[in-house]
Amino acid sequence: MRLSVIGCGYLGAVHAAAMASIGHEVVGIDVDEAKIAMLAKGKAPFFEPGLQELLTQELESGRLRFTTDLSEASSATVHFIGVGTPQKAGSYSADLRFVNAAVDGLLPYLKPGDIVAGKSTVPVGTAQELAPRIVETGATLVWNPEFLREGFAVNDTIAPDRLVAGVPSGPEGERAADVLREVYHTAIATETPFLVTDYATAELVKVSANAFLATKISFINAMAEIAEVTGADVTQLADALGHDARIGRRFLGAGIGFGGGCLPKDIRAFSARAEELGQGESVSFLREVDAINLRRRARAAQLVVDALGGDVHGKSVTVLGAAFKPHSDDIRDSPALDVAVRLHGLGARVTVTDPEAIENARRVQPQLTYVADRDEALAGADAVLVVTEWDEYRTQLDPTAAGDLVSGKIVVDGRNCLDPVRWRDAGWQYFGMGRP
Ligand code: UGA
Repeated sequence: MRLSVIGCGYLGAVHAAAMASIGHEVVGIDVDEAKIAMLAKGKAPFFEPGLQELLTQELESGRLRFTTDLSEASSATVHFIGVGTPQKAGSYSADLRFVNAAVDGLLPYLKPGDIVAGKSTVPVGTAQELAPRIVETGATLVWNPEFLREGFAVNDTIAPDRLVAGVPSGPEGERAADVLREVYHTAIATETPFLVTDYATAELVKVSANAFLATKISFINAMAEIAEVTGADVTQLADALGHDARIGRRFLGAGIGFGGGCLPKDIRAFSARAEELGQGESVSFLREVDAINLRRRARAAQLVVDALGGDVHGKSVTVLGAAFKPHSDDIRDSPALDVAVRLHGLGARVTVTDPEAIENARRVQPQLTYVADRDEALAGADAVLVVTEWDEYRTQLDPTAAGDLVSGKIVVDGRNCLDPVRWRDAGWQYFGMGRP
């Protein structure tokens, strides 16, 4: 099939390459010339495992190309919208200007029978509002939310755990669902559930999935707060809870909480939309989820302050991690970077290292010191703070060897990812989040 993908960020670039890899002819389109120039040369503009290889392979196959020229969408019959929907400045709502611009830009190139498939995360009601403009051209709008996780985006796109298609009612909707079934034929052939819904349900599946995941993380972080005043151990608590198959252990990792370009802004946009709908109280708990989440960042910084005797002024603190999670160079709303900035604000001499995210971090927080080499970053530290659970810190950092590099053997484990016994045995004072 001939596909266009409008928006070549974390979502669109991966979607374009992944769709080419399953045999479609794909044109990826973005207004950012630098990004398109990189993609066209087979260079991933961000770190995503497997993407670089996939781009090279699919560009060579001739099935994938990139352009800034929207008119090239006219060669395709299915058009995916994968542009960003960031948080609006000064508000909790989602900023839909890029979605609107993508749809408006695409309109002149749509033909009767074309399918426009929205993948961006949008407030419920958006598809209904966009549809009339698209229908006028004879094309049909479907809402096809994306559930990929950064770090696993390639696999999540090629082999998702479910596919959702929000379609209009009637034969047009049925035909549109059939077209999407054809697009995703490889996943469907391996029994991936394909759910057909109305627009509102499809939009809600996405935001409620992220709201649920955020709530699960904040739940365990709330338990960490209780653990801190009772002497309980939140990691053991999570292990025990996780054995209940109804609860499950995943997303019960207590620590400095969630960040990234999705969960934080999605729960806020959901609250804002619910309020617009006069139903704010239904999701008012999401405000609490957000508040718990942000408290944990402050808590991690406080642990460092306390461990250093109540004042970090002039002290050297090495922060291991800047990305919002491992296997990513994304620093959007990164809890790791936030904690580093807080400590810098308190007067500490903060050195940050990360295997992939230094360049992105430096761009937004240039006041911090960045060192690419982990051991060099550790040299002379009065305290070490682990805030992104990269293998380089979690499993590959030997506490004895690290102890020889630092000035003070104090480690604050913001992700509860280190073995406290090993670190204490090597002479370190270990502080976890919600652990005695
Ligand atoms: C999230 C969702 O997991 C995807 O399903 C969704 O498609 C995506 O948002 C999106 O809306 O595009 P992602 O932002 O890549 O994916 O990251 P997650 O793996 O969900 O992690 C989010 C944050 O939660 C990270 O900062 C991570 O460190 C934190 N986290 C995760 C915890 O603090 N504890 C956990 O137990 C799990």
